Amino acid sequence: NWNMKTFVDDTVAELRRHVGDRKVLCALSGGVDSSVVAALVHRAIGDQLTCMFVDHGLLRKGEADSVMDTFADQFDMNVVKVDARARFMNKLKGVTDPEEKRKVIGSEFIRVFEEEVARFGDHDFLAQGTLYTDVIESGTDTAETIKSHHNVGGLPEDMQFQLIEPLNSLFKDEVRRVGEELGLPETIVWRQPFPGPGLGIRVLGEVTEEKLAIVRESDAILREEVKRAGLDRDIWQYFTVLPDFRSVGVMGDSRTYDYTVGIRAVHSVDGMTADWARIPFDVLERISNRIVNEVDGVNRVVYDITSKPPATIEWE
Ligand code: XMP
Repeated sequence: NWNMKTFVDDTVAELRRHVGDRKVLCALSGGVDSSVVAALVHRAIGDQLTCMFVDHGLLRKGEADSVMDTFADQFDMNVVKVDARARFMNKLKGVTDPEEKRKVIGSEFIRVFEEEVARFGDHDFLAQGTLYTDVIESGTDTAETIKSHHNVGGLPEDMQFQLIEPLNSLFKDEVRRVGEELGLPETIVWRQPFPGPGLGIRVLGEVTEEKLAIVRESDAILREEVKRAGLDRDIWQYFTVLPDFRSVGVMGDSRTYDYTVGIRAVHSVDGMTADWARIPFDVLERISNRIVNEVDGVNRVVYDITSKPPATIEWE
């Protein structure tokens, strides 16, 4: 794509001029925007870039590994992985209210970020995946961007870094095309929207390791089957949720009393409104059979047939 190639060439030249021989830190989340920023800045300045990836334990199955595989191994970038899984689980103990969960996850994210950033005192710049839409919606400082991703306030105003926001003139579809131009894998470039609080808001009620495992495994099965059916580019967002109740089932000669998994799949343009996706029954049947057979602790699968409004896309 000619336009995107020009954008990449111009931006790389501009970044080289602007950064000189100094160092840049980039907070990599595994999402499209931060991935494209990392690849773009890396193309410009190579080893002067360090990426920081915080694993909060609320990512989908295989996601943390795939981030490391893509960026550290394939692109040969400096990536520092911060394993903060235990910290987040600890903070989430006993927290059941959805907005409270968002606050806990968001502020813990910022706390981890602040602590880790202290190790990068020799870095002058922080690269961020701010898009044009973020600029018009919420201003451009770090606090705002992380806030809008995690729905919290509270990053310090006195950040040591100068911000670099090379995508702030682009819309989402342009960012994806830049990602393709830079050779990022399709799984990243065409990644469906994923909320900052991650699986934390897809386990309804208190988040435990056991429940996270159910959502993670059932979600992986759903994604596999949606892809196999060739619907992965067609459906805007699709995932599983775990309601906080058990119901009666039967397995062999005995009664079970296990969890229900909810499947959510919607068509949407921007997430503001959404229509539930008419996934063919035979695909739903395969997904349901696999989830009940392969995921421990589940004896029932339901499909969410409400649109937004009146329902929201997420269940929390
Ligand atoms: P709802 O559930 O409000 O979701 O219909 C609309 C879109 O926003 C995403 N979403 C979030 N994204 N932090 C985020 O970064 C959040 O707390 C959050 N809650 C919902 C949701 O996945 C959907 O794409």
